[in-house]
Amino acid sequence: MTHARQHPTQVVAHRGASEEAPEHTLAAYEKAIEDGADALECDVRLTADGHLVCVHDRRVNRTSNGRGAVSALELADLAALDFGSWKNRDEAPDWEQQRPPSWEQQSVLTLERLLELVADAGRPVRLAIETKHPTRWAGQVEERLLILLKRFGLDAPSSPAESPVRVMSFSARSLQRVRAASPTMPTVYLLQFVSPRLRDGRLPPGVRIAGPSMRIVRSHPAYIERLKRAGHQVHVWTVNDSEDVDLCLGLGVDAIITNRPRAVLRQLGR
Ligand code: G3P
Ligand code: CA
Repeated sequence: MTHARQHPTQVVAHRGASEEAPEHTLAAYEKAIEDGADALECDVRLTADGHLVCVHDRRVNRTSNGRGAVSALELADLAALDFGSWKNRDEAPDWEQQRPPSWEQQSVLTLERLLELVADAGRPVRLAIETKHPTRWAGQVEERLLILLKRFGLDAPSSPAESPVRVMSFSARSLQRVRAASPTMPTVYLLQFVSPRLRDGRLPPGVRIAGPSMRIVRSHPAYIERLKRAGHQVHVWTVNDSEDVDLCLGLGVDAIITNRPRAVLRQLGR
C-alpha cells in the first residue's frame, strides 16, 4: 500500500555527508549542504567545561587520535585532537571511482559552529539535534541547548512546523525537558525496537514525530502505517540502500536520515 505525503520527503544528512567525509566534522556538514541535503543530523554531548560538541560516541577513541570520555575532557583538550584522519583508514565508498580525499586537520565541531554554518548556508537547511547521554548530566544538555538556540533566535519557534530545528532522543525524559522549556519545539522520539507499550502507534505524550530505525521499517511495516494513521510524522534512520529508500517512500515516511545524502537525492530525482 502506498501512502500519500502532505510534503516532500526530507533528506537528512546523518552526521553530515558521513559516508564520504569524517562524521560530525565541518567538512561533512559543508559537503551535505553542497549536496543539497534538506537537513543535517548531529549528536550532541556536553564537555567537562560545559560546551556542546557534536560527537556520537561516549568516548573519542573511534573518531579521533585521542582517548577518553567527552564528558571528562574540556573543549581545549578536544580542540587539540584530530577528528579527520581516522576516516583515511575507512573503506572508500563503492560509488566513488576516484581515490577518496585524505582527511586531516578536522577538529572537534561545536554545536555553536554548526549553527553558524547553517545560518550562513544561503538557503534554508534544517537541523535535527540528538541529545546523547541525557541522564549523565540531569537536564544540563537540554538547558545548554536551549540557551545556545536562543542566541540564534531558534529556541521558540512560532509553531513546530515552522521550526528550523528539531530535537531527537531515545530518551522521552530528555524530550519532555525540551518541550517544558520550549513548548513549540518539535521533538522526535527515536526507536530502535518496537516495544509492546508502543505497538498501537501511540508515542510518549507531547511527541509528534517518531524516529524508527530502518530495522523496524523492514520488520514491522504495519507499525509505520499505524504511526502514520495516528497522525505522526515518521523520520527513519539510517537509510543507505536504494531498496530501503524505496520501502520508506512506499510507506510515506516524512524524512530519510542517511549517510549518503547525494545518492538519496539522486534516487528521489532531485
Ligand atoms: O538519527 C537517529 C540516529 O542517529 C540514532 O542512532 O546511534 O546513529 O545516533 P545513532
Ligand atoms: Ca544520532
